[in-house]
Amino acid sequence: MKITLRLILSLIVAVGAVAAFSAYFQVGQERHRQEEELARRSRLLAEGLQETVEPLVQKGPSERLQRLVERFGNRERLAGVAVYDSKETPLAVTKSLAAALPTAPQTIREALADGVESGGFDRVDKREMHLFALPLRAAEKVLGAIVIFHETSYIRARLHEIWRITFLRVLAQAVLISLVTLLVVQWTFVGPIAQMAEWMKQLRAGGSIESSPLPRGDLFAPMAREVTTFARHLSVAKTAAEEEARLRQASESLWTSERLKDHVKTKLGGQPLVIVSNREPYMHRYKGREVEVIVPAGGVVTALDPLMRSCGGTWIAHGAGDADWDFVDERKRVRVPPDDPQYTLRRVALTSAEENGYYYGFSNEGLWPLCHIAHVRPDFRPGDWAHYQTANQKFADTVLDEIADFSSPCVLIQDYHFALLPRIVKEKRPEARIALFWHIPWPNPESFGICPWQKELLYGMLGADILGFHTQYHCNNFLETVDRTMECRIDRERFSVIKEEHLTAVKPFPISVDFSPAHQGSPAAGAPKSDRAAILKDLRIKAEYLGVGVDRVDYTKGILERFRAVERFLDKYPAYRGRFTFVQIGAPSRTHIKRYNDFLAETDAEADRINWKFKGSDWRPIVFQKRHHNHQEILPFYRTADLCMVTSLADGMNLVAKEFIAARDDEGGALVLSCFAGASRELRDALIVNPYDSEQTAEAIRYALEMPPEERTARMKRLRETVKENNIYRWAGRLITELTQVRFEQDPVARG
Ligand code: F6P
Repeated sequence: MKITLRLILSLIVAVGAVAAFSAYFQVGQERHRQEEELARRSRLLAEGLQETVEPLVQKGPSERLQRLVERFGNRERLAGVAVYDSKETPLAVTKSLAAALPTAPQTIREALADGVESGGFDRVDKREMHLFALPLRAAEKVLGAIVIFHETSYIRARLHEIWRITFLRVLAQAVLISLVTLLVVQWTFVGPIAQMAEWMKQLRAGGSIESSPLPRGDLFAPMAREVTTFARHLSVAKTAAEEEARLRQASESLWTSERLKDHVKTKLGGQPLVIVSNREPYMHRYKGREVEVIVPAGGVVTALDPLMRSCGGTWIAHGAGDADWDFVDERKRVRVPPDDPQYTLRRVALTSAEENGYYYGFSNEGLWPLCHIAHVRPDFRPGDWAHYQTANQKFADTVLDEIADFSSPCVLIQDYHFALLPRIVKEKRPEARIALFWHIPWPNPESFGICPWQKELLYGMLGADILGFHTQYHCNNFLETVDRTMECRIDRERFSVIKEEHLTAVKPFPISVDFSPAHQGSPAAGAPKSDRAAILKDLRIKAEYLGVGVDRVDYTKGILERFRAVERFLDKYPAYRGRFTFVQIGAPSRTHIKRYNDFLAETDAEADRINWKFKGSDWRPIVFQKRHHNHQEILPFYRTADLCMVTSLADGMNLVAKEFIAARDDEGGALVLSCFAGASRELRDALIVNPYDSEQTAEAIRYALEMPPEERTARMKRLRETVKENNIYRWAGRLITELTQVRFEQDPVARG
């Protein structure tokens, strides 16, 4: 309140001073203007009388002279007229003034003495009057003067009026300023601060972060952002501590972020952890004039960001965002996540020719269809292969630069974009511990055999100490491929390949997600409760049952097959028309590749066709949301859907299946899962389907909606146990343990 008062008083004093100064100035001007006006009028009158009066003055006082002055006395503001001789003796004076002029006033004396006209204010009969004296002459000799007296009280009244209006104006302004200041202070400061204080109080008392909205005003936005991040940290730390305590009490050996952090610290002993992937975890993009940060869709980022947040280190990735380079230092590094930095992202720049050849061409038009076998012909072009080699060399140079100062660093390379990278790094730094994790399936040797550069790829991969796949099946395929292609020794008992005296262990590491309540948007960790009604309202549809699918729009994900299964389900069970809606969240992906672009259009058209077929007024069977959604936007769908569909035609693991399960802390919902996704090996309680069989998938949808509630809960409980146990921290813990156990001593019997 003190501040408000001070603010109001300062404003009032400032406004009052300005008003007083301007009124003072205005009064002065007005007075001057009035005086000039009086002088002008007096002169006119005096000059008008001069000719008549001059001959009479010489004759001394006379009746005629007296009559003349009486005629002009007391007219409007004219108080009177007087005629004096040169000796200051009055010859004729308007009667009402006569008694008040025992002696000639100063103005008259000056005019007579100097022989020039004189004017000014003077007091006559205790009243202020304006006097104007015009000398009367005969042959250059001053005979006397004619004097005009004007009332001036109206001028004073006018000047008083100016002051009065000024005062009233200042008063009104003061009231207005006080009110506006009070309101502005209340709205801008007091309200938001009180709101923030209340919010913090609720948080301290164990309430949720979202329970009361934070002030959103411009002024407080940066502070609100910081406080929110701070509160989230506290909330996550609190939940993690409670979970740790609970686990200790239950003697459970669950992998958590904290446990991984300790584990990595012990295992790496100060050596850095370096991750390499093509896709960066945070991308800066221009959106109009603003810059937005997005987390790109995809399994690698979903899995590895929590790991890096926990352990710290450096993530090397292609800087693909158009605003990326505005946010890096001279070593092309930026700390991320941008709102809560916990690790370093080092961006690698690629020319557009390199990006086209290495990423779109060789990786995604060659290796991707080759490994997925989803009926899209792989294209292998020599130009793309050249760019693939150049890009791998570029990333390798960056890795070598990052690990230059360390004796035994750990490098985790991700995916099919970097088959050559392990060998390049290993040749330069043999003591570096290198793992290559292949996130997509590995095909059978016959399929892989069509790649013209299969030997070079395999040789590059075998530079790694550990080669990880999601499933044993993919490990077996890999060993078979190596066996048929390379000259090397395969140790089937230890699942390893020995090539040129270097051993590469080939192992399954089924990747997973962060199961923690904080990441899964659980109200227990302070997140708001998800609201299905709000989702449906946003989508502008009415439905009783909700299904969800979340994918990059990719031909391997079985999105068309999924839509057709929904169509078959509604054909077969018409009672669900108008009651079941399937929401497909689809992030457009790799759209510079014609097949992907066409596929996006095909998917759209298929959704349209089915929607048209079952057309209803406020209901649609399929809602296709084709835009990037962040994790927070997807969570409400996971948390409220009756079922989630993952119908990949081929998939290394598929983390959508696991994210859905991790989000269901209500133990509700059912998962329809493709038998061709790696996740189906672990998630036995999902409804496993062959996505090519629309009849079977339609039946799975029906069963997901109609299964007895106890069965639904029991299935979800078991699924959650599996994902909870085999979470991303366990994946990383195992991989890092294996990596730090790699022996570099030469095995005398190992000859490749
Ligand atoms: O899962 C395979 C993969 O290539 C991952 O590396 C990546 O997270 C995901 O697909 C997304 O693909 P892209 O990076 O090409 O958008």
